[in-house]
Amino acid sequence: MGASFLLLSFTASVVVSCIFLPKILSSLGESVGYYLRRASRTRRELLLARVSSEQRSYSSEIHETRSAGDDEWEEIEGYAAGTSTNRGKADQDWKGIVGFFHPFCNAGGGGERVLWAAIRATQKRWPDAVCVVYTGDHDVDKAAILERVKDRFNIQLYPPTVHFLYLSTRHYVLSSTWPHFTLLGQSLGSLILAYDAFTLLVPDVFIDTMGYAFALALSHFFFPSVPTGAYVHYPTISTDMLDSLSAGGQGVNAGAGEGWKGTAKRQYWQLFARLYRMVGSTIDVVMTNSSWTQTHIQSLWGPSRKRHSPNTDSDIDVVFPPVAVEELESAVDVSETTENKRGPYLLYIAQFRPEKNHQLILEAFADLLSSNNGFPSFPNETPKLVLVGSVRDSDDKTRVYNLRLLAHELKIKEHVEFICDATWPQVLGWLRRASIGVNGMWNEHFGIGVVEYQAAGLISVVNNSGGPKLDIVVNIDGEPTGFHASTVSEYSKAFARSLSLSPAETHAMRARARKSALRFTDRGFAEKWIRHMERLVQLQIEKASET
Ligand SMILES: *[C@@H]1O[C@H](CO)[C@@H](O)[C@H](O)[C@H]1NC(C)=O
Ligand SMILES: *[C@@H]1O[C@H](CO)[C@@H](O)[C@H](O)[C@H]1NC(C)=O
Repeated sequence: MGASFLLLSFTASVVVSCIFLPKILSSLGESVGYYLRRASRTRRELLLARVSSEQRSYSSEIHETRSAGDDEWEEIEGYAAGTSTNRGKADQDWKGIVGFFHPFCNAGGGGERVLWAAIRATQKRWPDAVCVVYTGDHDVDKAAILERVKDRFNIQLYPPTVHFLYLSTRHYVLSSTWPHFTLLGQSLGSLILAYDAFTLLVPDVFIDTMGYAFALALSHFFFPSVPTGAYVHYPTISTDMLDSLSAGGQGVNAGAGEGWKGTAKRQYWQLFARLYRMVGSTIDVVMTNSSWTQTHIQSLWGPSRKRHSPNTDSDIDVVFPPVAVEELESAVDVSETTENKRGPYLLYIAQFRPEKNHQLILEAFADLLSSNNGFPSFPNETPKLVLVGSVRDSDDKTRVYNLRLLAHELKIKEHVEFICDATWPQVLGWLRRASIGVNGMWNEHFGIGVVEYQAAGLISVVNNSGGPKLDIVVNIDGEPTGFHASTVSEYSKAFARSLSLSPAETHAMRARARKSALRFTDRGFAEKWIRHMERLVQLQIEKASET
């Protein structure tokens, strides 16, 4: 009797908690959210007051810059306004606070370029919105950060509407803080860091640009009315990692799935992947930096996002990070008249590292020379392979030495030029003179170098894999911008085909390559960023009017 009563009451409590637990949890989250909002209200008011006073003192300068005609931006604004047909112009004056979660904002890497370009685009689209960056870089103030952004990335931000809030708990996301269970530890750390951020200020839209998706989930838990966005450079756990544990897998963890340790590791990763999927389902707008990342994030987050919000558009979009394409475009002319400046030169710009596969490129080039007797477009000229790369240490030196030996053995020494630690003017010189840009690496995630080839009008011959295949050397206007190859003979054939195109075909392909590179400009980035931001702003307006 006692036992069955116990059992009954246990079952009842399980049923009750299953039904009510989510409710209890979510109202708990909202109460904490309410408390956090109240606690940071004064800071919010101070911030807004500071913004408007800075805006007033800068207003003469705004006038100058506006009338100085930032032409390229005018067009983006026009474009942006065009997409918001059903919203009218009202949201142009949206005045919300956009919080960017980027604890290492002064690092100066590719991830930071994305952050600053995103803030600049946001500022242009919503001049009255305030962008705050949550950072842990205590040693630098706003003026110093903005100065560095200008020097390092040539990005000029409008100072009055960008502000920095300093986090004091950044060490929790360092991998050194979590020697064991690093994935889980760092994610927990990002929760602490996000809590830290919310005690400073609760934004109206919250965006993570560093890969701390758990921070976004916490925001959703505390503040359901704050839309969240993620710009993902790299999945925290990838499907490759999960697969690699199973027997027969590849990579660093190959075979690590055996034995009890392996089982434990698999369980741990799977648990983590489960949490990561849940987190992904809470994010309103997801962007990735490449097709590669998109595929991984789609397979991890796609299903749970669909389940979570079946009716909304839960697309995960690729927004390419901006590359300095414009500089190259103005430095290198591509026209029919510049064609006579180019020779049958194959340019390969890459560090002398093993995965860049210089060896295969040398072999393919030797094959090209032995199997062709010249090309009509380049009478009296033998093709030449130009290898440009930096030599960082003695390992690199040894590799260059071995590659020279190989060129000698292949009897192509006179037709191969090594240029170590080239200066930028030297690189530009070759980009103007070469016909073909080469990339030999397998499964490169992106390949900024290949974008640079395209911007300079080179015809690319790249490995049939990774970012160069999926994202960069793609068809433009239905026609190719270069060739994909895998083996020595495929590379050699692709070189031969590129060199045998008629002058008209050659020029058309160069023009398409250049057009292709435009997708990676600041401008291309800004247009897409704004489109996604518009959705977040729209959600914010809707959710704010509901409450
Ligand atoms: C995306 O981010 C990852 C990680 O930082 C990087 O390796 C990759 O090159 C990036 N892709 C692009 C298109 O920049
Ligand atoms: C190029 O990619 C293919 C897969 O498409 C791979 O099998 C091959 O090893 C790669 N070649 C080089 C030179 O990296």
